[in-house]
Amino acid sequence: MAALWNRRKAFLLLVNATVANTKLGLKNTTFVDVRNATMFAAGHIPGAMSIPFNYVRQSINLGKPKAPSTTKDILCYETTTEKAVTACTYYHTSGKYKNVTLWVLTGGFPAWRAAGLKVEV
Ligand SMILES: *[C@@H]1O[C@H](CO)[C@@H](O)[C@H](O)[C@H]1NC(C)=O
Ligand SMILES: *[C@@H]1O[C@H](CO)[C@@H](O)[C@H](O)[C@H]1NC(C)=O
Ligand SMILES: *[C@@H]1O[C@H](CO)[C@@H](O)[C@H](O)[C@H]1NC(C)=O
Repeated sequence: MAALWNRRKAFLLLVNATVANTKLGLKNTTFVDVRNATMFAAGHIPGAMSIPFNYVRQSINLGKPKAPSTTKDILCYETTTEKAVTACTYYHTSGKYKNVTLWVLTGGFPAWRAAGLKVEV
């Protein structure tokens, strides 16, 4: 599946939880949690912004909720890989994030949890 997405959407790259955790440590990637607010409140990747999927385009266009920086890489995650890919694609198609790399966490938050990585509540 990774190869398919990479072939069709080269602007967007899939990473596993271990690699995502490395990016978290470098502090120059904005983590965007596109699950709903209830899911975010129950536990999320430390420092992640909460921008529920249905608000991603509004966030980019109107700044409500606040959009992630256009000068830092973005890592999108959801419960599924597919939905995060769609969300991250909105950043790409907006044209405002042309200079950054868009990453998607494969397997979403469940994969992060399964890897035993730090969760913030
Ligand atoms: C939030 O998402 C979860 C998982 O998809 C779903 O079960 C729940 O009903 C959603 N809650 C709201 C308030 O949308
Ligand atoms: C983030 O930091 C790493 C390590 O310093 C660097 O290789 C990478 O290019 C940086 N990415 C951005 C978008 O600044
Ligand atoms: C990308 O970077 C170039 C060179 O720094 C800059 O001129 C341009 O405005 C940037 N584009 C976006 C969409 O941020």
